[in-house]
Amino acid sequence: MRDYTFDDYRSIIEEHIMDFIPDVDHKSITLYESMKYSLSSGGKRIRPVLLMAACDFCGGKVEESLPYACAIEYIHTYSLIHDDLPCMDNDDLRRGKPTNHKIYGEAMATLAGDGLQSAAFEAMNRDMLLYLDDTKALNRRIRAAYEISRGSGCRGMVAGQVADMEAEDKSCSGEMLDYIHITKTAALIVAAVKAGAQLGQADEETLTNLTVYAENLGLAFQICDDILDVEGQEETMGKKTGMDAVNNKATYPAVYGLYKSKKRLEELTDTAIGALSQYYDNAELFTKLAKQLEVRGK
Ligand code: IPE
Ligand code: IPE
Ligand code: MG
Ligand code: MG
Ligand code: MG
Repeated sequence: MRDYTFDDYRSIIEEHIMDFIPDVDHKSITLYESMKYSLSSGGKRIRPVLLMAACDFCGGKVEESLPYACAIEYIHTYSLIHDDLPCMDNDDLRRGKPTNHKIYGEAMATLAGDGLQSAAFEAMNRDMLLYLDDTKALNRRIRAAYEISRGSGCRGMVAGQVADMEAEDKSCSGEMLDYIHITKTAALIVAAVKAGAQLGQADEETLTNLTVYAENLGLAFQICDDILDVEGQEETMGKKTGMDAVNNKATYPAVYGLYKSKKRLEELTDTAIGALSQYYDNAELFTKLAKQLEVRGK
């Protein structure tokens, strides 16, 4: 694996994030502006960084993973635009700026989300078309695109968003809460890592270990987000805090309280890091990221 840090991968994605978004077409200019508004800086880019790092870790070429890294960030960004709509979480601030619908209106925000989702699949399919004569290279790409489709759709993020909405204003079991968090958030994080591993042609054992890492990191990620909604600052988060209580959401702090939520965050972090212990320093980016997340939530 290259000696790249999180910020090194992050600057690659920042440089290429608009690569698959149309430039100017005077007939659709508002749509493209609205898509670019939400895509441009402010996001932590955790999913594309994980995808590129996993590809690199397994021996793949980072440059070749870019269409998939962009795709997962497009899907994530679309999920945030829709998540913020008045019919969902009704939020005014995202990535330090007014939410998409506050600037462009609800109809355009909905369509910008739709546009980003299909741009993701267009980017991946366009890349696959370049490899029709190279079965092995095509195979890796199909597997990566499959992980991203599965994690983002009605078996993953979308299902989780539905469960999240349906759990509002109700008491929620621990089992249901984990289902919500695993589907709405962990599924895309797992998809990022698995897609990267597939592109890097990971062996079975490495794929399994990376998957265990990502499942634990993914759940920890949403628990941390829930904790920060209670204890974090709007300025550092770039989004309003305290909104989960306003919306009466099923969150870890609401179901278990802050103390137990932090304990669970600690356990999941340890399990995530443990899954990659045999790789020592080679897995440093992954273990560092998990540790930083734990520290953020404490
Ligand atoms: C926010 O995700 C939504 C959750 C799944 C908790 P991020 O915290 O990754 O948001 P950005 O991309 O950095 O804005
Ligand atoms: C978001 O969960 C999960 C998504 C799939 C977008 P939240 O609703 O808690 O995310 P934030 O706090 O608005 O970023
Ligand atoms: Mg939500
Ligand atoms: Mg929200
Ligand atoms: Mg949240």
